[in-house]
Amino acid sequence: MTETPKRVVSNLEYLKKLFIMPDSPDKFVEFGHELLEIIHDFFQEKGGIHSSISLPELSKIFDQITIPDSPLLIKDVLSEIKSKVIKHSVKVYNPYYIGHMTSAIPYFMILLEMIIAALNQNQVKIETAKASSFVEKELITWLHHLIFRRKDIFYENHTQDPRVALGSVTSGGTLANLTALLVAREKAFPPRGGFQGVRTNGMAEALNHYGYKRGVIIVSSRGHYSIRKAVNLLGIGDANVISIPVDDHNHIDINKVRRKVKILQEDEEIKTKIITIVGIAGTTETGNVDNLEALGEIARNANTHFHVDACWGGPALLADDYRHLFKGIELANSVSIDTHKLFFCPMSMGLILFRNEKDLNLIKHASQYIIRKNSVDIGRFTIEGSRPFASLKPWASLKIIGRQGYGLLFREARESTDYMRSILDHCGNFETLNIPELFILNYRFIPETVRDQLAIWKKDISSSEDKDIKKIAAKKTKKSNNLINGLNIKLHRALRMDDTTFVSRTTLESTRYRPQNIVVLRAVLINPLTNREILNEIVETQNRIGLSIWKKFKSAFIKICNNTT
Ligand SMILES: Cc1ncc(COP(=O)(O)O)c(C=O)c1O
Repeated sequence: MTETPKRVVSNLEYLKKLFIMPDSPDKFVEFGHELLEIIHDFFQEKGGIHSSISLPELSKIFDQITIPDSPLLIKDVLSEIKSKVIKHSVKVYNPYYIGHMTSAIPYFMILLEMIIAALNQNQVKIETAKASSFVEKELITWLHHLIFRRKDIFYENHTQDPRVALGSVTSGGTLANLTALLVAREKAFPPRGGFQGVRTNGMAEALNHYGYKRGVIIVSSRGHYSIRKAVNLLGIGDANVISIPVDDHNHIDINKVRRKVKILQEDEEIKTKIITIVGIAGTTETGNVDNLEALGEIARNANTHFHVDACWGGPALLADDYRHLFKGIELANSVSIDTHKLFFCPMSMGLILFRNEKDLNLIKHASQYIIRKNSVDIGRFTIEGSRPFASLKPWASLKIIGRQGYGLLFREARESTDYMRSILDHCGNFETLNIPELFILNYRFIPETVRDQLAIWKKDISSSEDKDIKKIAAKKTKKSNNLINGLNIKLHRALRMDDTTFVSRTTLESTRYRPQNIVVLRAVLINPLTNREILNEIVETQNRIGLSIWKKFKSAFIKICNNTT
């Protein structure tokens, strides 16, 4: 039987003790120990990754309609957090959990979070964030230097210069991309004549003033959906995102970009302004990096902003082994990076960095009560208002782990990715479907018989002289792929029920079966505690469950094979 939590008599004396003050009789250290124990227990817990509770059951636990009236004891609320929240949280740290970019974090991050909460600095203005403002600016310079490698004198002049900002810290990649596109929009339609800029006069007047019918964004079909959100918010409109197909390795097709830019520039009827070309340095679904050098050159020739979304892959620049993948990133006008991905920091923080120190001035805001015009406040350059001192986490982590340490972590991630690929390729019942550049592997379960048969049909399609044979082989390939798509959706659901391992799932148009959509399993291999034995177990589990589901699909496949039309 659960004990009914004790109600506390609400009086000011008691409430005052909840705040720490010099010589205060608070119980911070006492509860601090208890809290650390609870956190530590969470990491020791065995059992399922997602907790077996169903979503309807969970909704019943959190179904109170009214706000608690009289206060409860801290220890009772901590115990409630333990039994109701922590117990049913996803164990993203688990080395068998290799499905998402959200993964394990080093334990010192938890302690840094305590410092961030304890200091409670608000980065919006110097009056609420003193040293922390300088930490943030130093971190921005480190990353700016890592990406753009400008001369030392540039950083000596601008790092702590309150009149400019080399970048800003955001709550995540979505806000970082939004900031980049906001700046790109201002740059695309600068104030001139009677026109005072988009932020003052709006998009309609911007287009009208410059004689354009539309303003567009160019990005590959692998672009993250945050780009579309930004475009919606900025009044550019979804229809003006030009999605360029990717090549067989999920890189934006450079020839198609060139052709599209030329068509847009030569169209006299629908005059179009290219607001920005976006390159992706680490695609969300497949972990591939666009040809940034070529995109940078196209953007420069088209006289447009070049933004690189490096939210996923950006930190790999810390390791020299990966620098070549990002060749041309220094040509970007802006680059977005997340720290809660490959920096191994907890949720959540992003950064947007601008090559030109004056770009962020285009979106500067002031307010009498908080960020006055000639103040030194960082908040003048950000979309967000109040912001936490999140930059402490990557700043400290870059000292504790260092470039060398990150290099080792990425080498380990590479090793896990290559190893998983090799065991999937050797198993016989899987097909790997991408060449992973940055620790993301796409594959599907496909019984060996189906794989072999698809190879035969592929040969028929490419080399048979008989048109009918070609046609039938193409039709059977398509039908079989649809069947295997269904099988992989079922397998993914069954793996969720099993709950001992976790990979995610997506659908790609860019596999060797293009243009047919293929359902793929997606592994993100960044947890350094995921070792070879664990990967063997994960693949064995998927193979075992996959084969048992296949029994229900087998007759449908035989039917496809035997059909002669
Ligand atoms: C390439 C890319 N860009 C942007 C984002 C959005 O980042 P966030 O979820 O931090 O807003 C993601 C998230 O996965 C991403 O992979």
